[in-house]
Amino acid sequence: MPRAIRIAETGGPEQLYVDEVALQEPGPGEVRLRQHVCGVNFIDCYFRNGLYPLPHLPHGIGVEASGEVEAIGEGVAEVAVGDRVAYATPPPGAYAESRVMPAERLVPVPAGIPDDVAGGTLLRGLTAWYLLHRTHVLRRGETILVHAAAGGVGLLLCQWAEALGATVIGTVGDEDKAQRAAENGCHHPIVYTRDAFRDKVASITGERGVDVVYDSVGAVTFHDSLDCLRPRGLLVTYGNASGPPPAIEPGLLAKKGSLFLTRPTLFDYVSERDELLEGANAYFDAIAQGTLDPQIGRRYPLDKAAEAHRSLEGRQTTGATLLDLAAGG
Ligand SMILES: NC(=O)c1ccc[n+]([C@@H]2O[C@H](COP(=O)([O-])OP(=O)(O)OC[C@H]3O[C@@H](n4cnc5c(N)ncnc54)[C@H](OP(=O)(O)O)[C@@H]3O)[C@@H](O)[C@H]2O)c1
Repeated sequence: MPRAIRIAETGGPEQLYVDEVALQEPGPGEVRLRQHVCGVNFIDCYFRNGLYPLPHLPHGIGVEASGEVEAIGEGVAEVAVGDRVAYATPPPGAYAESRVMPAERLVPVPAGIPDDVAGGTLLRGLTAWYLLHRTHVLRRGETILVHAAAGGVGLLLCQWAEALGATVIGTVGDEDKAQRAAENGCHHPIVYTRDAFRDKVASITGERGVDVVYDSVGAVTFHDSLDCLRPRGLLVTYGNASGPPPAIEPGLLAKKGSLFLTRPTLFDYVSERDELLEGANAYFDAIAQGTLDPQIGRRYPLDKAAEAHRSLEGRQTTGATLLDLAAGG
């Protein structure tokens, strides 16, 4: 029987265990996939530790994978048996050798895109796409601050923003990550574990502040992120790596310069199939054209999912982290 990673209780990485699941037949509108690669995303840690609720327990984990269509249910027109596809969507359950998914949530993977890029970076690529092209339409000459700039989403934001003609300031946890960010489009890396990023941003921008802050770190960076913005600048708080950001009074935004604040999630930006395909095509095209070069850091076999979570939460990773289902274990 195919193997899958599940949790029976919320908690730390030790809650992840290998289970065997019966091979299901796809129902109407569904597809069964033989999966090749699963992305390990920070959102998986939120579902595992209970920050984001699961409908019941035990439950599968993981929201991203690539694979091949093995069987299709009644009425499926989006894909055919043998197609290479990928997805980046709840419900969790992607850490599995085989899985049944709704056909409408699958995207075709172009021939030039390898399985690991499709299954290990689509979610981060779609995120970078909507953050730079939808939440805010980034324009040449604008200056942005990207937190966790050497992370999975962070490196893609730096690469894409630089290609769009923006000046990119990025925060990173150490010198190696600063180097990594600089090699990927970040013009001004700041080691924020050592230097106060608010002061550095003020000096880099000549006290003006940045147009947009992309903040995935949350709790510990939120207030200083607001202070990095120019008047009428935009704070995009889109993650909780250090914990959820604090609640604030709307009046604070007025006091700090008529600021804008948004808390977007990918799944609201790709809920319609045409949006999903538009984002995926934009991401895959940007790779094909050489605008983006997705960086894959650590790769683990399926049964080492807990190790993958420990390294992601332990700030040890750069670029994307994935589970390679062809690897032993
Ligand atoms: N809203 C959305 O639509 C959406 C979609 C995808 C991802 N996200 C969010 O984007 C972020 C990036 O996701 P990712 O999967 O690519 O992860 P990642 O950025 O590769 O890893 C998280 C990074 O956050 C930084 N960090 C700062 N404080 C931390 C702490 N206390 N604990 C752990 N990490 C800390 C670390 O980088 P440094 O050491 O350099 O600080 C770490 O490497 C996550 O917050 C995720 O939830 C949001």
